[in-house]
Amino acid sequence: MSEMSLPFHVKFEPGKIRSEEWSKSIKDPEKYWDEKARALSWFRTWDKVLDDSNKPFYKWFVGGKINASYNCLDRHVVTEKKNKVAYIWEGESGEVKTVTYYQLYKEVNRFAKVLQDLGVKKGDRIALYLPMIPELPTAMLAATRIGAIHVMVFSGFSADALADRINDAGAKILITADGSFRRGKIVELKKTSDVAVEKCPTIEKVIVVKYSGQQVQMKEGRDLWYHELMSKVPSNTYVPPEPVDSTDPIFLLYTSGTTGKPKGVQHGTGGYLVWVYWTLKWAFDVNDKDIWWCTADIGWITGHSYVVYGPLLHGITSFMYDGAPDYPQPDRWWDAIERHGVTIFYTSPTAIRMFMRFGDEWVLKHDLSTLRALGSVGEPINPEAWLWYYKVVGKERCPIIDTWWQTETGGFMISPTLGIELVPLKPGSATYPLPSIVAEVYNDNGQPAPVGERGYLVIKTPWPGMLQTLWRDPERYKMVYFGRFEGIYYTSDYAIRDQDGYIWFLGRADEVLKVAGHRIGTVEIESALVSHKSVAEAAVIGKADEIKGEVPVAFVVLRSGFTPSDELKAELSKHVRATVGPIAVPADIIFVNKLPKTRSGKIMRRLLKAIVSGATLGDISTLEDGASVEEVKKALEEMGGHLG
Ligand code: WTA
Repeated sequence: MSEMSLPFHVKFEPGKIRSEEWSKSIKDPEKYWDEKARALSWFRTWDKVLDDSNKPFYKWFVGGKINASYNCLDRHVVTEKKNKVAYIWEGESGEVKTVTYYQLYKEVNRFAKVLQDLGVKKGDRIALYLPMIPELPTAMLAATRIGAIHVMVFSGFSADALADRINDAGAKILITADGSFRRGKIVELKKTSDVAVEKCPTIEKVIVVKYSGQQVQMKEGRDLWYHELMSKVPSNTYVPPEPVDSTDPIFLLYTSGTTGKPKGVQHGTGGYLVWVYWTLKWAFDVNDKDIWWCTADIGWITGHSYVVYGPLLHGITSFMYDGAPDYPQPDRWWDAIERHGVTIFYTSPTAIRMFMRFGDEWVLKHDLSTLRALGSVGEPINPEAWLWYYKVVGKERCPIIDTWWQTETGGFMISPTLGIELVPLKPGSATYPLPSIVAEVYNDNGQPAPVGERGYLVIKTPWPGMLQTLWRDPERYKMVYFGRFEGIYYTSDYAIRDQDGYIWFLGRADEVLKVAGHRIGTVEIESALVSHKSVAEAAVIGKADEIKGEVPVAFVVLRSGFTPSDELKAELSKHVRATVGPIAVPADIIFVNKLPKTRSGKIMRRLLKAIVSGATLGDISTLEDGASVEEVKKALEEMGGHLG
């Protein structure tokens, strides 16, 4: 673990102010959140801050009535923020648009009317399959305005993946675009949507935003153009915001787990909004003068919380970019920071490592003096990348705010806090838990792991941003998050706490991969592979990758009658791309005669991991729990001669 003295270094400890704030939140959480929640506008104040009578189904701000779109827009347009820019948007082609709070407010009202006219009611689910364009936050806010629940699906997912999510959520409407752009090429979103919707009986209408401008097929009676619907609604349309219960769901977002299909993480309105508001304030201390840039796609939780809700709740200006980070040149992002005067830049370790590889000169060409803080999210940041980010991008002036959190947590959980007190930073550590969060590193037996020893990160306290449940699957919610250590939230992350109490993350402890920061379950890739006619069995594991953090590698047993070949590898890759999406495509496919299994039939995943990382038999024969050295040797022999 590397440590270093930074200009803001004093001593490695939580800091007095930060400790006090944290203690206050732990001592009397109800009092603490009763005060904090008042930063937002409520139509009715809660009767109870936290109802924990039915653990682990915690309820926040019970009896409270609130509306997300009201808090993001209506609140601001009656102040001097009315004509403040909400989004500076830039497309890959270089086109720039600005949207003020008032303009966004008007668009959201009109689109809310469109949805109402299509019969959308409170509690209905609306699926979104859109690129990073202003219509996306518009659609999200219009949905929440009328109490509908949005279900965004990352636009890199395949038709099958989109259909699965729409069907699980039972969405009525799908909003998509004709196409989007990636490295100058068109991504055919409408075409993919058409394939998906064929399998989605609940979808009544498909609303299509004209963006790429290419020809698309519009199905009579089902497909409607966004601009045509909007043109029929007067520009001064006002749709009163629906006061929803604090505990009504605001959105579902599907994410990968260890087993089965992706799970619909359900967030409640009041708790989520309060948590997102405060975490953004605590971590980055955002203010009215900031130009905030979170590079995440809105299709992931980071985009939901910190491209849409967090910044809009604070009424700050965000920069939003749709396109590839290195197109047409490796300095596209630095150039954007310079041109738009970005003050806080929040991105992933994968992006940082990619830019590091391109070379310092691409960064140094640009005047980045407007930056005051830099953020990192999505995967552990290695100290080399941290230091490069700190020195070359931030010129040793900007603190690195490494924020650890998950789709399930709604917002940041462990992070430095510019908005409370900045503790001395250690490159690679996310520092300490935020107020309200009691985090612990447990060993296998549910005991606190000794300092410096790897264990599992758990959270022992409820917090307002926590998921409410998994959509229509409360049993799975209980089992996945509160089953491993009875009644305590299990994160599935490996972590270490060091001698100063700093937390270091070491990646997932389950079969979930973080490929370039994107969360994907090995089980989804395995199911995609075995759905191909040639595949009898498949096991997917993560392999360390210098840029992407990790990449999937697949071990495949073919059905009789099929023989390993490069053509078949290519075909299987194509099949995974079509079934799940590009992020799931294995970096390598290794054909074997048999998968190594223990006597009880469990795949020896650690053995597979050791094989791809180039370990010797001596290193690996003791790896697998419950498997003897002989079993491992035998399994290795049986796997056959195609090992890479
Ligand atoms: C990982 C993304 C280390 C972690 C917000 C977690 C991180 C998973 C960090 C959740 C970080 C996220 N340091 N690891 N700063 N941030 N992770 O749901 O493994 O897409 O469990 O949410 O990302 O991924 P998700």
